[in-house]
Amino acid sequence: MIEIFANAQELARGAAEYFVARSVEAVARKGFFTVALSGGSTPKALYQLLAESFHDQVPWSKTHFFWSDERHVPPDHPDSNYRMTYEAMLSRVPVPEGNVHRIHGENPDAAEAANEYEQTLLQLDLILLGLGTDGHTASIFPGSEVLHETKRLVAAPWVEKLNTYRITMTLPLLNTGASVLFLVSGAEKAEIVKEVIEGPKKYPAQFVQPIHGQSLWMLDKAASSYLATDKRQ
Ligand code: 6PG
Repeated sequence: MIEIFANAQELARGAAEYFVARSVEAVARKGFFTVALSGGSTPKALYQLLAESFHDQVPWSKTHFFWSDERHVPPDHPDSNYRMTYEAMLSRVPVPEGNVHRIHGENPDAAEAANEYEQTLLQLDLILLGLGTDGHTASIFPGSEVLHETKRLVAAPWVEKLNTYRITMTLPLLNTGASVLFLVSGAEKAEIVKEVIEGPKKYPAQFVQPIHGQSLWMLDKAASSYLATDKRQ
């Protein structure tokens, strides 16, 4: 399903409303909410909005935070997805410390960090994902061996183009999510959005197909500008 918003601010608001709806539904059904957060720059506006305008709508004490991927750096490093989330949201809301399950990117052995993280994962209610201009999502990059992973839930692939390891949820885990939300913003993503949504299956993001759950694309107008008009709602 695809939802299109006028601009990045409206996109963040739409995603915040979806986040709140999934959290309220999960807490009503089972008493807690589990969400895997994406990194990069796009979701920062969403996290800030949840901490600000939506502060009173999120069941913070019943929400468990995970990450769909992390850079191979300490949590206070400028590239850390955890640090971006902490500064934008976690430092400003009443989430119990025990509800924040970050990936230990500081572990010199990335594979060990991935193994450790596998032990902490539940059936996730919501997984947030972004989309790179090369069609990657989480840290599953084109041509990466992790694309063919069928058993591991979390892996530590070497990312040649970035000359670094990453720690990432794999397709077997991403495809168990109850809801998967792709949040994509900006004109620079318009071409890859068109190729991923309308083109032949070849990019990592196209292999995220939840077995029992649903995939939702939330795009701002700029990111959706190359889509065929019948794809827009
Ligand atoms: C990361 C993300 C990655 C991101 C895309 C889009 O760790 O960087 O998980 O998959 O979502 O690269 O990044 P932007 O939102 O910055 O364009």
